[in-house]
Amino acid sequence: MRVAVIGSTGQLGQDLMRVFGEEAVGFAHEDLDVTDEESVASAMRSAEPDWVLNTAAFHRVDDCETNPTLTFAVNATGALNVARAAAAVGSGVTFFSSDYVFGGQDRERGRPYGERDAPHPLSVYGVSKVAGEQLVMQANPRYLVVRSAGLYGTATSRKGWTFPELMLNKARTEGALRVVTDQVLSPTFTADLARKTKELIEQDAVGLFHLTNAGECSWFEFARGALELAGVEAKMEQISTEQMKQRARRPPYSALDTTRLETVGLSPMRPWEEALSDYLRAKGMI
Ligand SMILES: NC(=O)c1ccc[n+]([C@@H]2O[C@H](COP(=O)([O-])OP(=O)(O)OC[C@H]3O[C@@H](n4cnc5c(N)ncnc54)[C@H](OP(=O)(O)O)[C@@H]3O)[C@@H](O)[C@H]2O)c1
Repeated sequence: MRVAVIGSTGQLGQDLMRVFGEEAVGFAHEDLDVTDEESVASAMRSAEPDWVLNTAAFHRVDDCETNPTLTFAVNATGALNVARAAAAVGSGVTFFSSDYVFGGQDRERGRPYGERDAPHPLSVYGVSKVAGEQLVMQANPRYLVVRSAGLYGTATSRKGWTFPELMLNKARTEGALRVVTDQVLSPTFTADLARKTKELIEQDAVGLFHLTNAGECSWFEFARGALELAGVEAKMEQISTEQMKQRARRPPYSALDTTRLETVGLSPMRPWEEALSDYLRAKGMI
């Protein structure tokens, strides 16, 4: 099998390149811009993949609020360009989406969202990902839409840091952290997400799947977990989303139910605490 990874220098992209090894051909942003329909089509004609894995996204959610045109160009039209180019060469396509398609339903929900739950995004980013999902599904019958959440990986992304890394650095240098407690999610290690995506493709699965590490936590609990595993002490203050004064609205609760995996014979991903521990070990932080 031959896979084309778009966004191959991103944190998930680098793990997909590792997991697929010699089967993978990578396209970095400078090689290929998903907003350029003709270049995408021509790149797919030369690569002749069996599957295209599209990780490209504009996902700085606060910047998405002020730049909806670019957000939709990359996350929606770009996703369509990739799905169509894949279909034209007989390839399947995987589009990575987000837990931010949810959140507007029910603040007190407390029950993970399944694939059958209707999206209700709260931000321009979330709406653009719903649009991307729908465009991919109608453009290519061999599609996988994979929703994940709170990604962190060992590969350095353009951002330069991951949430656990940022928390540990701040705790060590400043001795104090202020972290939100009223956003609950299922944070996910990209190495695990890449492996499970490969398993889905090997099962010839088609459709919409939620793939996250098991369990749920607030950003505060996630940060505390990282500090405990690394044996770092700091004064931790719980704050509310309101206090962050961010432009984009975030889901108060967006944990995902991943049980659909079992219907295609796959096991759930391991608990987020175990994945975080492995991540910190791989980064030499514990
Ligand atoms: N990060 C999260 O917490 C999170 C949560 C849920 C879902 N997701 C989704 O998961 C996917 C992967 O996320 P990630 O965290 O791995 O992102 P990332 O590290 O930012 O990687 C994205 C990759 O796409 C490239 N890219 C950006 N715009 C592009 C364009 N117009 N054309 C081609 N390539 C482009 C980036 O290149 P440059 O950096 O060089 O521009 C980068 O290599 C995305 O679809 C994202 O929406 C992410």
